[in-house]
Amino acid sequence: MCSASLGINVVLITGGSSGLGEALARQFYNAGCRVILASRRLDELNRVRSNIMKNSKLVPFQNVYPPVVLKLDLADLQNVPSFADEAWKIYHRIDILVNNAGISYRGEVMTTNLEIDLKLMIVNYIGHTALTKCLLSAMVEQGNGHIVVISSVQGKLGIPFRSAYSASKHALEGFFDTLRAEVADYNVKVTVVSPGYIRTNLSVNALTGDGRVYGLTDPTTANGMSPNYAASEILESVAAEDEEVVIAGFGAKTAILLRALWPSMYFKIMNSRARRGRPNLLNKAKEQ
Ligand SMILES: NC(=O)c1ccc[n+]([C@@H]2O[C@H](COP(=O)([O-])OP(=O)(O)OC[C@H]3O[C@@H](n4cnc5c(N)ncnc54)[C@H](OP(=O)(O)O)[C@@H]3O)[C@@H](O)[C@H]2O)c1
Ligand SMILES: *[C@@H]1O[C@H](CO)[C@@H](O)[C@H](O)[C@H]1NC(C)=O
Repeated sequence: MCSASLGINVVLITGGSSGLGEALARQFYNAGCRVILASRRLDELNRVRSNIMKNSKLVPFQNVYPPVVLKLDLADLQNVPSFADEAWKIYHRIDILVNNAGISYRGEVMTTNLEIDLKLMIVNYIGHTALTKCLLSAMVEQGNGHIVVISSVQGKLGIPFRSAYSASKHALEGFFDTLRAEVADYNVKVTVVSPGYIRTNLSVNALTGDGRVYGLTDPTTANGMSPNYAASEILESVAAEDEEVVIAGFGAKTAILLRALWPSMYFKIMNSRARRGRPNLLNKAKEQ
């Protein structure tokens, strides 16, 4: 870990109350950064905050900046500018913005309410676009900035029964690839991160086509990498100022290559995956 190069940067992390965001918060804190954590559940953010401080090897005089927690609902776009203002005013700068918050989805296009497509698009994509726009000119003025975007392998390829999620992650990658070029001359960096499965509550918290909470941990998620592993890879990529990074195993990386080089084969494989996955999905929906 290049903690020296991450230094005392101010890091704002959305979705800092659990999973990957929680692991990122801990690791940025332990690297000496001043962290600000934001999400909807203040009680969970406070739990993360005290855990981080309790378990940190840093002694207080090395890091005199305990994590700060702020309430943020990305679905509430009107409140994003005042949130950004509040976050910026804590240290009068934000060096690293980690757009991490997100929700997942399980369902079939044919039976999914449009509100769900909208919800995923707003929380996973537009909310972070709005927040980034609010902080961009301050970053340009302060002469540096780093925007880290947590996408997914599903931001690079679509898989069955994940339409709204995959769409929102594709949108993120398109938007932030464009932004990277536009702000390169202002010393603002953009790192797009595409992880494979991580062992978090993302699948439990996923929304179904009718807006219910999915409530189950899928085997793919249960067998995923640890949030700590993903977070340490992300910190390395941030320190190295990588433009993008895919944090995934051989299977997912091969799928991305196949999608690019032999799309017809990739689509055939997805067709059979949909055929095999449909009964499973319908059973789980019935169990609920
Ligand atoms: N787990 C995986 O397999 C995987 C794979 C690839 C990419 N990712 C990405 O990693 C990121 C973190 O997810 P995770 O796996 O750590 O899942 P998680 O444990 O469910 O965490 C999601 C985080 O997002 C926050 N959030 C949800 N809705 C929000 C809203 N409307 N406004 C503000 N914050 C909101 C949640 O906090 P509150 O509930 O307190 O608001 C929570 O902190 C997501 O972008 C996800 O797409 C995950
Ligand atoms: C998932 O959520 C439950 C209930 O909030 C919590 O006890 C558990 O630690 C979470 N699991 C992970 C992997 O974050």
